[in-house]
Amino acid sequence: MQKNPNPCYYPDYLKLNMVLGSQEPLSGKYGEEAHDETLFIIVHQVYELWFKQILHEMGVVLNVFGQDYISESDLGSCLSKTYRVKSIQKVLIDQLNIIETMTPQAFLDFRDYLVPASGFQSVQFRELEIRLGLKTDNRVAYDNKSFHNRLSAEHQEYLINVEKQPALIDLLANWLERLPFVDFGGFKFWEQYQTAVWKMLDSDSEIIKNNPTLNHEEIKLQLKELDLTRASFESLFDDEKYNERFPNHVLSRKAMLSALFIKLYSWYPLLDIPARFLTSLMDIDELLANWRHNHALMVQRMIGTKIGTGGSAGHTYLKATTHSNRVFTDLFNISTFLVPTSALPKLPEEVIKNLQFQRM
Ligand code: HEM
Repeated sequence: MQKNPNPCYYPDYLKLNMVLGSQEPLSGKYGEEAHDETLFIIVHQVYELWFKQILHEMGVVLNVFGQDYISESDLGSCLSKTYRVKSIQKVLIDQLNIIETMTPQAFLDFRDYLVPASGFQSVQFRELEIRLGLKTDNRVAYDNKSFHNRLSAEHQEYLINVEKQPALIDLLANWLERLPFVDFGGFKFWEQYQTAVWKMLDSDSEIIKNNPTLNHEEIKLQLKELDLTRASFESLFDDEKYNERFPNHVLSRKAMLSALFIKLYSWYPLLDIPARFLTSLMDIDELLANWRHNHALMVQRMIGTKIGTGGSAGHTYLKATTHSNRVFTDLFNISTFLVPTSALPKLPEEVIKNLQFQRM
């Protein structure tokens, strides 16, 4: 590493002239400056800086997952990146409290100057959604139709190019499909797992039938629910049923089986980091949904049922994105297929040996 011969000066290193000279309230340009507009600008700028950092971290994860082979140390490094992203996301959620110190009345003092600008045009937010794997077809209708044509030609072109690159969810699917947890040679793991599941469901059925606190109708209803659970499990072993049961799935059935195996046996050393990584992606998805939810509530408090400066239905639109604009829902669905540890098939020694770290 070369030495830096020049003394480093804090304001120059951080380019503070540029950063601190970048708040120009529009209200001051057209009349009396609205005091809270500076807060509004700074909060948005800080968000954009954190978005930049999140994209920086996720860039490493995407690069690793773009490789044909992912070593344990690479996966460990991806895990630490996702932990950092989660910490930033928590700050992003907390930061909404700061903007909420501005009253709706104070917002009105400068709101009209902003039209038609909106966080809706945050290119970095869209890039993050796309790079994680939010598909255009899965977006809430308003978003799906108009997020491109509300951006400048340059930004549209940039995001169209991002959309052409593989997203994390697709790379994750490829990786899971490559893992050897579906075919164990002679060992029929999935047959044994199915037997364990049917045994568990039969026992559940007996418990319902013999429950003295339930009447005939209630028993019938609960057994019907149990049949649905049985059908869910069946979908794991049949492509057609899987597509029917999970019409919006991104992970193939094969990828789901690998993910399920990782989750079922996560205490084996070799599966520990993969299991944590899958959990971490769910956390990121959940934190993003939490942010959307809190932002939607903040917007309702700020503008009630008015439309947004970007022209959407405002709170109603944002509330809908909380449920729809999700990426890793398939990973959440894995919990449907977990069975108690005591009911799990015992793995043969040869398989267990492969799931341990090699002695140094
Ligand atoms: C007074 C504060 C705020 C209000 C009233 C507000 C309002 C809105 C509204 C109404 C939308 C929907 C699009 C539209 O019609 O404009 C929106 C979208 C958005 N806002 Fe805010 N917002 C505020 C603060 C923030 C902050 C601090 C951020 C941080 C970056 C932010 C980021 C976003 C993003 C990323 C979207 C797009 C969400 C999506 O389409 O899924 N907003 N905002």
